[in-house]
Amino acid sequence: MSPVIQAAGGGDEEPLLPVKKIPGSYGIPFLSPIRDRLDFYYFQGQDDFFKSRIQQYGSTVFRVNMPPGPFMARNSQVIAVLDAKSFPVLFDVSKVEKRDVFTGTYMPSTSLTGGYRVCSYLDPSEPAHAKIKQLLFTLLASRKSYVIPSFRTSYASLFQTMESDLAASTGAKSDFNKLNDTTAFDFLGDAYFGVVPSSTRLGNEGPSKASKWLFFQLCPLMTLGLPKILEELFLHTFPLPSFLAKSDYKALYGYFSSAAAPVLDAADKLGLSREEACHNLLFATIFNSYGGVKVLFPGILKWLALADEIRSAVKAEGGKVTLAAIEKMELTKSVVYEALRMDPPVKFQYGKAKHDLVIESHDSSYMVSKGEMIFGYQPLATQDTKVFENGGEFVGDRFVGDEGKKLLKYVLWSNGHETENPTVRDKQCAGKDFVVLVGRLLVVEFFLRYDTFTAEVGTILLGAQVTFTSLTKATSSS
Ligand code: HEM
Repeated sequence: MSPVIQAAGGGDEEPLLPVKKIPGSYGIPFLSPIRDRLDFYYFQGQDDFFKSRIQQYGSTVFRVNMPPGPFMARNSQVIAVLDAKSFPVLFDVSKVEKRDVFTGTYMPSTSLTGGYRVCSYLDPSEPAHAKIKQLLFTLLASRKSYVIPSFRTSYASLFQTMESDLAASTGAKSDFNKLNDTTAFDFLGDAYFGVVPSSTRLGNEGPSKASKWLFFQLCPLMTLGLPKILEELFLHTFPLPSFLAKSDYKALYGYFSSAAAPVLDAADKLGLSREEACHNLLFATIFNSYGGVKVLFPGILKWLALADEIRSAVKAEGGKVTLAAIEKMELTKSVVYEALRMDPPVKFQYGKAKHDLVIESHDSSYMVSKGEMIFGYQPLATQDTKVFENGGEFVGDRFVGDEGKKLLKYVLWSNGHETENPTVRDKQCAGKDFVVLVGRLLVVEFFLRYDTFTAEVGTILLGAQVTFTSLTKATSSS
């Protein structure tokens, strides 16, 4: 592995490196933000948008307009931090304010979340933040022993459907994303609340209602492949009217108000109203968890190619899928971390400077003024070749062994270092352990069942599209 450069994380108050003026400019008001948006979505694409500017400015820190821009966002001006050393300034909540920056320079209407600013939009200095995050920690801890059985039941059924899809005719295909969308929704409801959503009044409509509600919040960050003019007008310039998602939200809320009743009792005791708690549980389950897993699982499958070693590691534990067994599966763990490093499912992070501060990249330091928006495009920080040898390549066993583990602090998908744990005082993902666990479960279950597979991999909305074209069953499975 490459020599690891000390990445202090956001720079110290006393810069050791030469202070440089932050390169880049915001251009002509109104017009340049739109030009940058078109470059970002259509003319250059995300990666080239940033990489070409790194080249142009000879710097991984620069000024740029981030989409969506007018009229969706009042101010699209950001300071981009695009290397492993400067990026972690975004985790330091003494330096950056995380109020209303969850989706970036725009914020979806709170009428999509019952009139509340839910946890993801709260700065830790706001009193409700700690209460809500604590409620989620308590919920996840109390449901720990249900996650594995619930996952196994739900995904066994998904795999069976894939097999019958493929057996239907020669040349048949099975769309993993589509099946995952349905399965993940029931799995999460069952794992968190012990009530399978499709067995309630929601029926089979949960996933489509959830996806529509997510779309209303995230469409400014998406392209659908429609004519540009339509996308610009309907997705990127004005918010979609939230009343169009109202009845879907109401149906979803109905599920939470009844299935999560015991959690709402716990919220009362923490001093949170049942209503605020319920909107937050909905958001954490559907936006944070469901939205995350929709992107993460196809992302992991995209990279999978390590059947033998993973299967033998599982078999060494007697073929049982337990927390202890999974903890020993070095390669499975490494594969999941590597997928999260290469393709962090949430790619953008934002924070506003709480006071004047200094950001350090590997070679320079930069002065940032109070109130300026700092923005990180995570894949460039986690593929930084100054900390990861062949940082742009998927190396399944990268995190195996003592040397491998030392690199884990540069895995940042959770809005924090992988070696740290979320607390009520920071903005690190409340579901960090859950996410890593279910990612590993997907790999383990998959290779318990199959020796090899072929799949077509493409891109869709915010992640990978995986369509299986063949599956070879494992010679022996538990
Ligand atoms: C916050 C990623 C799943 C709950 C975050 C943030 C990221 C993230 C990057 C920070 C956003 C920011 O402030 O800039 C992910 C990914 C997931 C995932 C990639 C799945 C693949 C989950 C799950 C939960 C969860 C399963 C379940 C409770 C939260 C909450 C916050 C958060 C509540 C806000 C934390 C706070 O306000 O302190 N997540 N997350 N996430 N995540 Fe996750």
